Amino acid sequence: MSHAQLWQAADKLFALAETWLIRIVATHPKVAMSTDTEFYLPADAFFRANLPTALTFDDVSLATLYSEVLPRETDPSTALSETLKLPIPIVSSDMDTVTESPMAIAMALNGGLGLIHYNMSPRDQVKEVARVKRHVHGLIQDPITVKPGQSVGDVLLMIEARRFAFSTFPVVDEQGHLEGLLSGNVLKERYRAKNVAEVMTPRKDLITEQASVVGPDPIKVADEFFSRHLGINKMLVVDGSNRLKGLVTASDVERITSEAKTRRKPARDGAFRLVVGAAVSPLRKPDGTLDKDGVLANVGSLVAENVDAVAVSTAHGHSKGVGDVVRLVRAAFPQLTIIAGNVTSAEGVEFLAECGADTIKIGQGPGSICTTRVVAGVGIPQLTALYLAGTAARKRNVRILADGGIAKSGDIVKALTLADGVICGGLLAGCREAPGEIIEIGGKTYKKYRGMGSLSAMKAGSAARYGHDKADRNRKFAAEGIEALKEVSGSVDDALSTLVGGVQSGMGYLGAATLAELRAKARFVRVSSAGRKEAETHDVVEVSTRKQ
Ligand code: XMP
Repeated sequence: MSHAQLWQAADKLFALAETWLIRIVATHPKVAMSTDTEFYLPADAFFRANLPTALTFDDVSLATLYSEVLPRETDPSTALSETLKLPIPIVSSDMDTVTESPMAIAMALNGGLGLIHYNMSPRDQVKEVARVKRHVHGLIQDPITVKPGQSVGDVLLMIEARRFAFSTFPVVDEQGHLEGLLSGNVLKERYRAKNVAEVMTPRKDLITEQASVVGPDPIKVADEFFSRHLGINKMLVVDGSNRLKGLVTASDVERITSEAKTRRKPARDGAFRLVVGAAVSPLRKPDGTLDKDGVLANVGSLVAENVDAVAVSTAHGHSKGVGDVVRLVRAAFPQLTIIAGNVTSAEGVEFLAECGADTIKIGQGPGSICTTRVVAGVGIPQLTALYLAGTAARKRNVRILADGGIAKSGDIVKALTLADGVICGGLLAGCREAPGEIIEIGGKTYKKYRGMGSLSAMKAGSAARYGHDKADRNRKFAAEGIEALKEVSGSVDDALSTLVGGVQSGMGYLGAATLAELRAKARFVRVSSAGRKEAETHDVVEVSTRKQ
């Protein structure tokens, strides 16, 4: 064999050995794992590796992991303080087109929390909180009533004007004593001139239930009541003095009983009341100093109604003004859960934690109606902000909420790898429980959704949140939000079951039975624009399966 042939043979042998070596090494379980760990990075390594670029939801994807957990077995519960525990990690935003009492009730019934906005008088806000705290599921505590002296014509006009979908009304006197029941089948044009007293079913013929018997579970009591009294489909609840205390309808009992099978555990306080939070404004006196008495009076009346948390909500939480309010409230109400924000830095979290906040809202400019980044040029893409905030929060033993920019359930999963919960505005603004009328445009139905920093919202009260004074009409505010429309999207029950279903799928993919495990196990990859395109449906024509 010549010298050259010898080299050729040796070369071949080396190449063969190299191929085998690569095969052996690559298929060895330890090596396969180390390849994964090299490519799919935990938060610390991942966000550092991407420096100085800040990333948001669509920039990343989560790597799947070996799992023994089925999505339905996962537990997405969280806590916002030592005392405020939530079965689901979703909070509805304190915005005037998102959260008033109907939204807060629906959120708590599904295990989340609603934050009542503050674009209303402090008195009205307290009433909104009271409506949630006094809500007993299934019992209509404030039913629409009529007076015996009213004419049937008046009642017909009222139904038309207020577009009631029901036509049975308890009849009460001026003191609220039950006198009879006006049923739909006598609400006819031909009886227009007659008085309610002439056509109602009189009190002596009504079967009622005592408030003392109803207790905290009116659905169970009503279920038995309707089974006992065939043909009756309204359970009128009265107190010992025959004053009307509420009403349960048979159709509500049926709906609630069937919903209960799909709905998760409601979020309740120690006294079995639904939980609710309320936003508080850093009120200022005309000379610009903090209105300490005003703030304390406002929080004091919310606490008197058993509010579960107050949120000091501003666009710039890492500021003296917000710190002063948090300190003031913490000193006066040591047990109250305080949420404060918004910040996007570790220092901001440390500052608010030091002032006494339990939970800190993270997000400046990610919201669907926000223009802060465009107008002020500030703000950090949400995931990097959450990562930094989370590291500081762990050190200070406080919690963080990802506030804004959540457009789909996958974003919630990504947020929960770094945060204790999320705040949603736009995703809930189209629900029927959100405030505001339904608007029809070109055959489609919408609800208004506006930024709290939009001109109209600031004029309605939220100017202080953005560092402006709503009384200052001579100066033009720099709006940091827009007014928009959201397509009407059904009920909060439906919206949350889809979102929480997505969260549980994500937990299942990562083999995480709890949110703590999700945070510990999360491994990130960076997504290219082609990867983002691949993640969406592509190259098909979608067949709509949405309900009309
Ligand atoms: P999403 O994306 O859920 O965001 O609609 C809701 C969050 O956005 C914040 N927010 C604003 N941010 N200008 C802003 O820069 C605004 O006018 C504005 N209004 C609300 C807020 O944190 C909310 O929860």
